Amino acid sequence: MQLKVDNLTVLYDRAMVLNKVGLVVEEGEMVSLVGPNGAGKTTLLRAVAGLVKWEKESLKGTVGGKITLKGEVEFGRENISRLRAHEIVRRGLVLCPERGRPFREMNVRENLEVGAHLCTDKGAIEESLQKVFQLFPVLEKRQNQISGTISGGERTMLAIGRCLMAQAKFLLIDEPSVGLAPLVKEHLFDRIKDVHGMGITILLTEQDISFAFDLATRHYVLSQGQMMAQGSAEELLADEVVRQSYLGL
Ligand SMILES: Nc1ncnc2c1ncn2[C@@H]1O[C@H](COP(=O)(O)OP(=O)(O)O)[C@@H](O)[C@H]1O
Ligand SMILES: [Mg+2]
Repeated sequence: MQLKVDNLTVLYDRAMVLNKVGLVVEEGEMVSLVGPNGAGKTTLLRAVAGLVKWEKESLKGTVGGKITLKGEVEFGRENISRLRAHEIVRRGLVLCPERGRPFREMNVRENLEVGAHLCTDKGAIEESLQKVFQLFPVLEKRQNQISGTISGGERTMLAIGRCLMAQAKFLLIDEPSVGLAPLVKEHLFDRIKDVHGMGITILLTEQDISFAFDLATRHYVLSQGQMMAQGSAEELLADEVVRQSYLGL
């Protein structure tokens, strides 16, 4: 299903974090959103996943930070911008957070099962679990290990596995390569390719430009909450301004 973000604006108090941002990801594509730390990448993914509104409610009266969210998000031609986070997950659009964020005190298998909490069919859950183990054999090996003790790369794979357990059709992956050693990055790169090969559409954010450019076929460049450019790696690299000002090359 197609994802379409239109005029997305997010303000934290009076700080503009996203300024009328738009993007489109067609079904079957793998697209990246690149930009430096603080550009607004995580905020964009969280807003799409319905988590910024959720935060707005939860912050009311506690921290006092006022969050303003404007714009439209469509998934499969349906306007999902006013849906709750779990309703968005149920449609197959699932966020894989930065550094995986597992429930640290639960073991790997339990973390994966949490991903399937919207599913009541035990047989189907077991089937998804076997699929995830096939894709990430290391998770099967570590299934009884407490998640707080697995490595960074394994945490990211666990998070992707958890999304697959939720029957994701479209993955939003936030900075998969952050903090990983080169060999681990390479391994994860191949696994993300595998996930895409299973027919899952992917929008991922990255600070590592070469990781993003090698993996995805089309890219959006975000800087200080503004969408500065988009295109293939060749197109973006051919643009001197984009190269120097936004890609830091
Ligand atoms: N909950 C929040 N409250 C206030 N400011 C926030 C919050 N989350 C993020 N920000 C600010 O929004 C900007 C964009 O952050 P973020 O979306 O995390 O960027 P990125 O993922 O590209 O590093 C940053 O300046 C950050 O400090
Ligand atoms: Mg981020």
